[in-house]
Amino acid sequence: MKRISYSRQSIDESDVQAVAETLKCDLLTQGSQITTFEEALKRYLNVDDVVVVSSGTAALHLSYLALNLRGTTVFTSPVTFAATANMLHSVGANVRFVDVDPKTGLMDVNNLEQVLKETAGDKSISKRAIVPVSLQGIPVNLPAIDNLAQYYGVSVVEDAAHSLGGEYVHDQQVYKSASCSHSDLAVLSFHPLKSICCAEGGAIATRDPDLAHTVRLLRNHGLMRQENSYLRTQKLWGYNYRMTDLQAALGVSQLKRLPFFLSKRKAIANRYYECFQGEPYCHFLTPTPKVLGSAYHLFVVHFESKEMRDAAYIFLQSHGIETHVHYVPLYKMELYKQWLGEFSLPGAEKYYQGCLSIPIYPDLSEEDQDYVLEILAKFCNQL
Ligand SMILES: Cc1ncc(COP(=O)(O)O)c(C=O)c1O
Repeated sequence: MKRISYSRQSIDESDVQAVAETLKCDLLTQGSQITTFEEALKRYLNVDDVVVVSSGTAALHLSYLALNLRGTTVFTSPVTFAATANMLHSVGANVRFVDVDPKTGLMDVNNLEQVLKETAGDKSISKRAIVPVSLQGIPVNLPAIDNLAQYYGVSVVEDAAHSLGGEYVHDQQVYKSASCSHSDLAVLSFHPLKSICCAEGGAIATRDPDLAHTVRLLRNHGLMRQENSYLRTQKLWGYNYRMTDLQAALGVSQLKRLPFFLSKRKAIANRYYECFQGEPYCHFLTPTPKVLGSAYHLFVVHFESKEMRDAAYIFLQSHGIETHVHYVPLYKMELYKQWLGEFSLPGAEKYYQGCLSIPIYPDLSEEDQDYVLEILAKFCNQL
C-alpha cells in the first residue's frame, strides 16, 4: 500500500553538499555559517536583525524573556502548537486565549480589540502583550493587530513558525510575514515540516537592536566576552540555545530553494482548490478560503462535523494517507484546564470540529496528489 505523509522535508544534493562541506570546517558550532545564515535571512525578510537558535520553541522562549513577560497578560490563540503558549507558562506570563476566525483559525481581531478594551482599566493587570500566530502559512492580520497594539501600548510577537515565505498587502505595499513591519519580534521554525528545514532550528527577527542584543546574549548562557581576555561577564541568566553550523549550512542551502518550495506548494494548493469545486467533494468539504500570500505550510479542509472529520482521518489512514488536525484548542488539554480553568471559545471550537490537514509538501508527486484526491472522493461518495 502507498504511504503518504501529510508533510515532509525536501533534501537535494546541494543540501547534502552544504552540510558535508561544513563538516570539514574547524568550527562545527559558533562558526561562520551562523552569520551567513543570519545575513541571508535578514536579506530575505528585509529586517534589521535575525538571531538563529536551536528551535522555534527556543526562539519563542527567548523572545518572551527579552520582552520580560513575567507577570504580563498575554493574548494569544488557542489554535496553535503547544509551544506558543507553553513558553508563556515557562516565563511566568498569564495567558488569555483570544478567539479565532472559524474559517481560517487565525486570531479574530474584533475579539482581540474587545479583550484589550475590557482589560484596559484592570488594575490587577500591569502589562499586556499579543502573540498572534500566522497559522497554516497565512500571515495573520498584522497591520490591524499593530494598530491596536500601538493604541493600547502593548508589544507584539508574531509566531511565524508556519509562514516563512508568506506575504500580505497593506496600503498597497507587500510585506513578508516575519519581517517585523508590524510587530516587535517574529519567531521562525526550521523543523523538517516547515517552509525550510534545518533538522531542528529556529530564528528571532526584530528591528529593535536592544531586543536583538538581549536574545543573542540569552542564546549563549547570558555570558559576554571581554575583548582580548579570557574573562566573561555574566550579564543575564541565559541558556545554550545555539544552532550548530551544520544546521545553519543546511538552512543557507534551503533558503536558496525557498522560492522553488513555495511555487510547488502553491501549485499543489491550486490543484486541490480546483478539484474541490467539483463533485463529489463540494457538498462535504470546504477548503480554507484561498489567500494569495499564503506560504501553504498546511492545506486544511473542513468537514461539517467532528464525526465526519474523524471518519475521514481513519478512512485516509486505512488507505496509507496520513492527515493531521492542526490543532485541538490548547484550553482542552488537562494541564491548561488546571492552569486557566475550564472554558471554550466558539470560533476555535467550530474550526477544530471539522479541520483536517491533507498532504502538501514540495516533493509530493502529481501521482500522489491524485491518489489523495481519489481517496478523499471515495470517502465523500460513501457519505
Ligand atoms: C505555531 C508553532 N509555533 C512554534 C513551534 C515550535 O517550533 P519548533 O518545533 O521548531 O520548536 C511550532 C512547531 O511545530 C509551531 O507549529
